[in-house]
Amino acid sequence: DARVGWEQFQQLIEEDQRVEPRDWMPQNYRKTLVRQISQHAHSEIIGMQPEGNWISRAPSLKRKSVLMAKVQDEAGHGLYLYSAAETLGTSRDEMYQQLYTGKAKYSSIFNYPARTWADVGAVGWLVDGAAITNQVPLCRASFGPYGRAMVRVCKEESFHQRQGWEILYTLSHGTEAQKQMAQDAVDRFYGPALQMFGPPDDESPNSQQSMAWNIKRFSNDVLRQRFVDMIVPQAEALGLTLPDPDLKWNEERGHYDYGDLDWDEFFSVVKGNGPLNHQRLAHYRAARDDGAWVREAAAAYAAKQAEASPR
Ligand code: 3HC
Repeated sequence: DARVGWEQFQQLIEEDQRVEPRDWMPQNYRKTLVRQISQHAHSEIIGMQPEGNWISRAPSLKRKSVLMAKVQDEAGHGLYLYSAAETLGTSRDEMYQQLYTGKAKYSSIFNYPARTWADVGAVGWLVDGAAITNQVPLCRASFGPYGRAMVRVCKEESFHQRQGWEILYTLSHGTEAQKQMAQDAVDRFYGPALQMFGPPDDESPNSQQSMAWNIKRFSNDVLRQRFVDMIVPQAEALGLTLPDPDLKWNEERGHYDYGDLDWDEFFSVVKGNGPLNHQRLAHYRAARDDGAWVREAAAAYAAKQAEASPR
């Protein structure tokens, strides 16, 4: 019964154990996991668009094949995550529908355009770099299917980050025009990438409960700081600057101080008023509509197979 269930759940959390789909769990634990995991999955799927647009325009066969592999990985990450959320009793179709109708959130970063080839490098280095910083602690999330999905995602994400770094390194050590293109991409992606970690801790309504339940292991600001500390020396190695005049090492804190981010812009993008929110959603809807016949054919074929050889 619920009392016994609650005690067992509390014990699992206190002993930092995994909660599995069949375990009793508080309704709000289930709800916040479906919320976070489905949004995470939606982010992976919409995240395919900025780079997908560059597959046909990649500057070489090598870049094209690496980019195809990466975009394919993102689709797989989406599937792992939808499957993890499904174990909590929400069907994939329901989650797809929430994205299709524009009701669901996904990471704000994907509402920004990938204007030049250097953006593909900046997305890899900064966006996937931020994703890794956020996703490594999620490998230890208390909900089993989520934490386990993250292990594989993080391995692939590291490849994504490396290929992005390599694109920017090539450009920043190329012609003056190529270096400028790389610098421009970093200038545009730096702020929005830092905002991938969520709003400041004092404006993060979900953090406290999510940390109490060992879903979120570190606060938004702690992970954001960890990411800033990582990319400052990397930017120096790239020979590029980060667009933040307040960035400077703070000996006392043992971290880099960084400037204020534009949270008005962030909340406006999350609300749907970013540069490309409408285009991203329209593209997703068109893909779902155009692919309906494939899903129907596959379902009809499976039904015929089942009829032909009932188990
Ligand atoms: N974009 C859109 N919405 C965001 C956001 C962002 N960058 N950051 C926060 N939000 C939303 C939250 O979803 C929440 O709204 P909700 O209650 O309606 O869900 C609200 O803003 C307040 O934020 P909180 O900090 O209270 O919310 P969380 O505790 O959920 O923390 C989070 C936000 C850190 C993003 C957390 O949900 C998380 O760690 N999610 C899993 C990781 C993830 O989704 N990463 C996104 C990128 S995936 C990616 O980059 C793929 C790569 O391979 C390309």
